Amino acid sequence: MKPDTVKQLFIERYGSEPTLYTSPGRINLIGEHTDYNGGYVFPGAIDKAMVAAIKPNGTDKVRAYAADLEEYCEFGLEESDIPAKQWARYIFGVCREIAKRGGKIEGIDTTFSGDVPLGAGLSSSAALESTFAYALNDLFGLGIDSFELARIGQATEHNYCGVKCGIMDQFASVFGKAGHLMRLDCRSMEFAYFPFAPEEHGYRLVLLDSVVKHELVGSPYNDRRASCERVAATLGQEFLRGATIEQLEAIRSKISDEDHRRARFVIGEEQRVMDVCNALEEGDYQTVGERMYQTHEGLSKDYEVSCEELDHLVEIARECGVTGARIMGGGFGGCTINLVKAELYDNFIATASAKFAEKWGHAPKVYQVVISDGARRL
Ligand code: GLA
Repeated sequence: MKPDTVKQLFIERYGSEPTLYTSPGRINLIGEHTDYNGGYVFPGAIDKAMVAAIKPNGTDKVRAYAADLEEYCEFGLEESDIPAKQWARYIFGVCREIAKRGGKIEGIDTTFSGDVPLGAGLSSSAALESTFAYALNDLFGLGIDSFELARIGQATEHNYCGVKCGIMDQFASVFGKAGHLMRLDCRSMEFAYFPFAPEEHGYRLVLLDSVVKHELVGSPYNDRRASCERVAATLGQEFLRGATIEQLEAIRSKISDEDHRRARFVIGEEQRVMDVCNALEEGDYQTVGERMYQTHEGLSKDYEVSCEELDHLVEIARECGVTGARIMGGGFGGCTINLVKAELYDNFIATASAKFAEKWGHAPKVYQVVISDGARRL
């Protein structure tokens, strides 16, 4: 829905003029499942975002209309007021996390809509959290810094939605900058912007959505995190970050095969992020692509967060001469991210659509994304 439509819906429903806010979804070029290990990630915000029309209503109630779902929900601001609807919990969680940090907020009226595909690994939930964290901070003049806004979204996932996620998605949604990826050190929280314009080097970036439902709520994601934490504890470290393969082999007999495989992936991934950043600075897209394939291999075989449909998409990419392809985001469904030479693009999309449909009964969805700005008032 266009921002103007979201605004119009607000006016029709609540009878006054709102302020408009937006915050985007994200891609991640490389650095998967590294954030909660204190490692590096390399995301960028995209031109698919959540848009919310918001106005304080002078009560202690939030009145929210999810325009895409055509659902309305009303809830209070106390801990016991937690709404049953999942989408409303994201907004409720943000309100609660702000309150826990001493932020004084009141009730709001809101209508919102978004074009970040749900469950595709593009962080639609982070986009929603960041939109409201940014908006409430602005509307009530709370003076919360941007990192804390990202942490408010992350804490919402942990405490109200059951996903023990890292900081990458909310960070990318808040800090995004057009034309740039961001390398974030999730231990020190230092980050740097890297210009990213694959077109200028003859490449295109495209996402293929398997349309396999991606559901991080529940155990599989949290299980991966728990494995990493067990291995880190056995190593006597706070995070897996910084551990070497030699150190991992030295504790081999003290950890399960499954934990060993998962830690091996994370340790390898740290080096791949560095390799990709260095390669990008030299315009060496070949190396970027190779590392992407290696990451996919690790996510599929060692970390076990892929699925047959996504492995198939990556296999087709290889056959079509795509420079790099891998599953992106938390996993268990969702999208592959593909770096493809411009001249191979049309053939790749046509072949992937046909071959995938032949095997799975439907074509993948194709998303072209533009690296865009983060949370802001419109
Ligand atoms: C999800 C989480 C992130 C990150 C990725 C995997 O998107 O929300 O924190 O762990 O998975 O890299």
